[in-house]
Amino acid sequence: MKVKQLISATEISARVQEIGYEISESHDGPILLLSVLRGSFCFTADLMRVLPGDVEIGFISASSYEGFHNSEIIFHGSDMNNIEHKSVVIVEDIVDSGRTLDYLLSIISDLKPKSIKICALLNKASRRQQDLYLDYIGFEIGNRFVVGYGLDYDQKYRNLPYIGYLS
Ligand code: IMP
Ligand code: MG
Repeated sequence: MKVKQLISATEISARVQEIGYEISESHDGPILLLSVLRGSFCFTADLMRVLPGDVEIGFISASSYEGFHNSEIIFHGSDMNNIEHKSVVIVEDIVDSGRTLDYLLSIISDLKPKSIKICALLNKASRRQQDLYLDYIGFEIGNRFVVGYGLDYDQKYRNLPYIGYLS
């Protein structure tokens, strides 16, 4: 399969700078970036480096078996017991149907952080099945399966420095 470039590394980097600015403008205390594994690790790594203030990093993995009834959410590397004074920003690679984020949001809001915002690098709005508000969006894309910059197809292509689609 061939990968055709959709968004270049330069475009990604410029947009990440802008999102970092938007996030820091709308927060005044410490931020807990919660990166949804695995697809958003590249985006998170770049985003954290353009945020000037106090930033903590945590990772969440959500694996769903047979829908979301049996899905398992694991928090890695962040103390979620004391998040009342923290502003959480969930960092996602891509929002498709919105079901993953909708589920994560319900779990995280039960922990009662100071605030919760959603930051998605890519948005496939036309595929949405859940009513979700995304606070920060990198790029709107059409109904295409994309890879690169952390996103995979069958665990491949995560290492591409750009975002492309399979053809
Ligand atoms: P949702 O629950 O349908 O919104 O699915 C979101 C998750 O599906 C993302 O976090 C990705 O892991 C995966 N996903 C959805 N679309 C794509 C794509 O085009 N490329 C790679 N992964 C995708
Ligand atoms: Mg994902």
